[in-house]
Parts: sequence; structure tokens; C-alpha cells
Amino acid sequence: MKPNYHYKDVAETYLFSTVAKKVSEYSSANPDQKILRMGIGDVTLPLAPAVISAMHEAVDEMSKKETFKGYGPEQGYAFLRESIQSYYARRGITLKTEEIFVSDGAKSDCGNILDLFDADNTVLVPDPVYPVYVDTNVMVGRKVSYMQATAENGFLPMPDETKKADIIYLCSPNNPTGAAYSKDQLQKWVDFALKNGSVILYDAAYECFVTDGAARSIFEVEAAKRCAIELCSFSKTAGFTGTRCGYTVVPEELIFDGMSLRKMWLRRQTTKFNGVSYIVQKGAAAVFTEEGEKQIAENLSYYRENAKAIAACMDECGIPYTGGKNSPYIWLQCPCGMTSWEFFDYLLEKIQVVGTPGSGFGKNGEGYFRLTAFASRETTQEACDRLKALLKQ
Ligand code: MLT
Repeated sequence: MKPNYHYKDVAETYLFSTVAKKVSEYSSANPDQKILRMGIGDVTLPLAPAVISAMHEAVDEMSKKETFKGYGPEQGYAFLRESIQSYYARRGITLKTEEIFVSDGAKSDCGNILDLFDADNTVLVPDPVYPVYVDTNVMVGRKVSYMQATAENGFLPMPDETKKADIIYLCSPNNPTGAAYSKDQLQKWVDFALKNGSVILYDAAYECFVTDGAARSIFEVEAAKRCAIELCSFSKTAGFTGTRCGYTVVPEELIFDGMSLRKMWLRRQTTKFNGVSYIVQKGAAAVFTEEGEKQIAENLSYYRENAKAIAACMDECGIPYTGGKNSPYIWLQCPCGMTSWEFFDYLLEKIQVVGTPGSGFGKNGEGYFRLTAFASRETTQEACDRLKALLKQ
């Protein structure tokens, strides 16, 4: 047996595992220190009451012979796909339920979707960006090229005729920079993809944080149905990071060389996946009820307030940053020319505040640092106080 040698080409551990390991080592060596975690974008508020009560009802259904459920449809129960369909319809986007596939999260789909593409396809990824896009392609031996996302272009690279690729990744609002494309900018990407026969993999996991009119879905651009797949998640919208549920939209117009990507994805999912549990899907559907939407809006505004507090702290410290408006992330410049990991160590050692080193998201992330607004209000406030005391000096 020969192992997959491409695994030699990725870092030995995943970015957030490396951060967690460093923090755990520090914590074991300094058991009396209170560590404030503002690193991984993991939510801290509990699931909304509407979600919990839908899940309780589903548990009860599972306890009775008449309502018990075994295997469900691999692509998700109709009730949830219909709820997602209406969520898009309320934003003026028409989807067929057959184009919506429920999964255990955007991260899994992000890796699994690559099953649909030839190994020789070229890949274009923004730098910096969510490391899963690069790692999952490198693991199967694809060469990845990069588009530069820098302060000069507002961290929103636009199409470049000299940089064509078969598979183009876009993440908006962006993880880690928080920058979000407008509909007009997405139109340019769609035109570019259609002209070159590319597919766009559009990660919309943070769409619920858009507040300033930026695009929330690539399908706001009608022609996108001929070139784009959208990945979405309940993790950040409704606190499902531990519950696990997401969805991917694969429009039926996506035909490449006579092959329908939607049909291929259905074939892939029915073969390799047995669906998300009924209980979780019931909870996810409750996210779209009137009550659920109201409760979730409250949670989102709680995180937005945290983001504002971190932004205000950066302002007070005179540290340049982006994000925090359409995004739960604050993307800041490390002070005094420190590298991302130097700043990480500095904050951990001096004030026990954990963030994510920008260089973990790509070469252009070097010298930057990401803080998340998903911590509790108390942690956020305490972290801001400690940051001010340290960085205002
Ligand atoms: C992040 O912190 O970038 C995210 O939480 C990672 C993820 O969603 O998998």
C-alpha cells in the first residue's frame, strides 16, 4: 500500500489544532492563569429556545413507534429544504428544493465537494482565507494559485485575466478579514467564471452578519446559477458549531461537459453520506420560524455588540483593523512590526488573550491577527481591558 503522499505537502496540524495545542501547553504550565479565548470562531450563546423545543419534540417522536424515524433522505428532509428555500425566496432568490442539500456543516461540504472535480483542475484561492480550501486541495494533489487580498484592494481581490482557474473560491463576508463583496463585484466574478468555464465555490457561512447592503448570496447575481455552488452553515447563524448542520446549493443549471454537478452531488451524497439526524434537522428548521428568527437576531446582535467593543478597543489603542461590521471577526495589524505568531505568543504570555495568527490564513496574513466576537460579553470585555492596558503603552 502506498499512502497519499500529498499529505506531506500540508502542515502537520490544522491551524486551529495548532493554536489549541499551544494554549493547552501554556495552560498546563500556568494553571492559575485565566485564559481568554478569542481565537477559533466558536459560538458561546446556547441554542435558541425555539430550536431546543423543536429538538425536544423530535426526541419524543423518536421515542414512539408511530413517529420513530430511521434513515432519512441523504440530501435532507423536505421540511428543512423547504424552509431553506423560503429563506432564499424572502431575499428574492428562487431555488428548487432539489438544489438544496443538507449536510453536517460547511466545512465537510467544502472538502467533500472536491469529489466532483477532475484531479487536474486548477484552483484559485484568495490569500488570506479559511485554510480548509487550500488544505483540502493540496491533500488530493492539486496545485493552488493565489489571488492577493491586501489592504490596498480592501481584502477583496477582483478577477484578473492573467489568473484563470477551473475552480475559484470566494468567501464573503470573508474569513478572516471580514471584507464583503457587493453584488456588482460578484457580478464581475460571475462574468469572469462564465467566460472561462470556471466553477465558483462560494462560502456564505457568515452571510447573516451582513449589515451594510453587501451581498449575502452569490445567487443575488442571477447568472451565478450557471457557474456557482454556495456553501452555507447554521454554525454562525444559529450557534450550531457543536450541533452540526449546514447546506449546499448546487443549481441544476451547472452543467459541465454534459455532466450535471447537481446530479453528481446527489449521487455522491447518497453513496457516501447518510444524512443529518432528524433531531438536528428539526432544530435547524426552527431557525426559520418567526420565533426562531427573532431569537437568533437577538443572538446575532449580542455578537455584533462584542465586535463593536473590540473595534472600539482597537481605536483606543491606535491599532489599524478591518472587519467587525459585516463579520464577527476583527482583523488587525500586529503592532511594532511583530509577526503574527510573535504577537500570538506576546498576548498569551502577557495577558493570556488568545487570538488567531493571521499567517495561518496565508502568506498575506503575516503581520495580522484575528480576534473573534463569538466569546461571551464578559470575556470580550475583560479581553478588551487587558488589551488596552497592554497595547496603549
Ligand atoms: C474559524 O474560526 O475560522 C472557524 O470557526 C473555523 C470553522 O468554521 O471551521
